[in-house]
Amino acid sequence: MAAIVLEGLVKAYGGTPVVRGLSLEVGQGELVSLLGPSGCGKTTTLRMLAGLEHPDAGTIRLGDDVVAGPGVRVPPERRGLGMVFQSYAVWPHRSVEANVAYPLMLRKVPRHEVATRVREALRWVRLEAFAARMPHELSGGQLQRVALARALVAGPRVLLLDEPLSNLDAALREELRAEIAALRARLGTTLVFVTHDQGEALALSDRIAVMNRGVIEQVDTPERLYREPATPFVAGFVGGANVLKGEARAGTFHCAGADVAFELPAELKGRSGPGTLVVRPEDLELGEEGTPLVLSARLFLGHAAEYRFPVAEAFLRVIGPALEGVRAGQTLRVRLRKATVFEEGKSLPK
Ligand SMILES: Nc1ncnc2c1ncn2[C@@H]1O[C@H](COP(=O)(O)OP(=O)(O)OP(=O)(O)O)[C@@H](O)[C@H]1O
Ligand SMILES: [Mg+2]
Repeated sequence: MAAIVLEGLVKAYGGTPVVRGLSLEVGQGELVSLLGPSGCGKTTTLRMLAGLEHPDAGTIRLGDDVVAGPGVRVPPERRGLGMVFQSYAVWPHRSVEANVAYPLMLRKVPRHEVATRVREALRWVRLEAFAARMPHELSGGQLQRVALARALVAGPRVLLLDEPLSNLDAALREELRAEIAALRARLGTTLVFVTHDQGEALALSDRIAVMNRGVIEQVDTPERLYREPATPFVAGFVGGANVLKGEARAGTFHCAGADVAFELPAELKGRSGPGTLVVRPEDLELGEEGTPLVLSARLFLGHAAEYRFPVAEAFLRVIGPALEGVRAGQTLRVRLRKATVFEEGKSLPK
């Protein structure tokens, strides 16, 4: 049985729809990420799941129980969820211990049991030694771990994490990411993880739901999303692919809004009509042959370099060997090695 079922969720604020018919199933013990750009409705979806917002339409089930739907609205504290918000809300005037104990006090858990469970939760996030500290004596990463311990202490059936790592530096983020993965393996908790960082989603998730403007465009394993994006948006957002509108004609793709055309790879030669060309930066090649383009920037990446060419109000990004003596303003030739063409008006490639 699924741990979470969202069905046709709709939510509008002041007449503006922000979640527009969203459906998703999360399995028992599964970690599913909601990934999408700022403002696409990730937090709103999580808040509906938590019971902090009520959907205008649709239903939410947790296990066997309908917790939101027509005529049903189970309050947050009776949904059995743990939640860590985008900005970690740790009470400044309470010690680490008291912060973590709070959900248990709410549930009127006996005192001696509270102490044991708080100690255990602090051990999970490796903060045993910090129980008596006050929040202002902690680093950002430690605060975030306090929030995590507090969300976990009552043994929630589902844990909701809204960008819990967004306020941390890269090294700490890696460390906490690994901690979340380890905790989850140990506790078997079902997890919904919100992020707009595709690397984070790819690294942590069993499956990723890619959101765009209030709907899910694709739900899949990280590998499948990366290798077989269902829409140009998913390809651009998850794989960092170049996405160019235009038209395929006589073995060539003509970009809209620019006097630029690319010869299509052999397997796409037969395509014709308006569409969207999707090509990963690694699948473009600089060399003797190809479309002449003016280089606007070369970024050294260490193992390779990224070359940027302005095309129709955007950049075409090419990743390849770091060539010496190449500079902005120079004309280079760019060839497509591999690409996908999505037909106009269709979300799936043909
Ligand atoms: N209480 C509210 N009243 C009015 N509009 C809101 C409210 N909450 C969110 N919105 C709007 O709904 C849209 C979706 O917001 P949401 O917070 O779900 O986005 P998000 O995907 O979490 O973005 P981010 O990555 O920036 O956190 C945004 O355009 C936002 O401005
Ligand atoms: Mg958000």
